[in-house]
Amino acid sequence: MVNRSMPRNSAAAEAEGIAMLTVHGRTRCQFYASRADWAAIGAVKKAVSIPVVANGDCASLADAASMLAQSGADAVMIGRSAIGRPWFVGDVAHYWRRAKPGPKHRQRAQSAALEHFETLLEILGPGHGVRHARKHLAAYAELAGVRDGAAFRQRLVRLECPSAVRVTLCQLFDSPLLIEAA
Ligand SMILES: Cc1cc2nc3c(=O)[nH]c(=O)nc-3n(C[C@H](O)[C@H](O)[C@H](O)COP(=O)(O)O)c2cc1C
Repeated sequence: MVNRSMPRNSAAAEAEGIAMLTVHGRTRCQFYASRADWAAIGAVKKAVSIPVVANGDCASLADAASMLAQSGADAVMIGRSAIGRPWFVGDVAHYWRRAKPGPKHRQRAQSAALEHFETLLEILGPGHGVRHARKHLAAYAELAGVRDGAAFRQRLVRLECPSAVRVTLCQLFDSPLLIEAA
């Protein structure tokens, strides 16, 4: 979190031996209100010589580029914008390395969503796993860019049986896109 004493505190933490610092461009009082202040992260970057990771509101490739330009940070951290599209983090890294958008992700999206679901079942068990997965399944349906996204979302958040979730996730990523790619 940023505040006026953050640069001084960061330098003190570096002197104590920390190796990297992630800074969310908001104050504790702001919580998620207004926009993250990427330039304020720059004051921390100037105060230390260790790598600084900028965080807060990175939702597009353009955001990632602006965050780095405004903060001078060494990397960006992505939180909420990866919910429903975990491949977005890879897209940013891909864009950085090659300075152009990554490969089309439909198939990747399906396998990522299924792998995410299976991992939640492994960690939490079938009952709790399905319930915990619902917010992610809803986000997958919303961000899949398919015509029946809302209907899929309705179905996915009501399912209790893991097999039914798997089948419905596959149907989601196989269903017609809102805008068919040229
Ligand atoms: C579901 C969720 C859980 C989080 N848990 C933590 C946490 O345990 N510790 C922490 O420092 N920040 C936590 N955060 C804050 C994020 O690390 C991040 O700073 C914040 O979401 C802003 O980044 P974003 O705009 O990319 O989401 C959490 C955020 C979310 C959405």
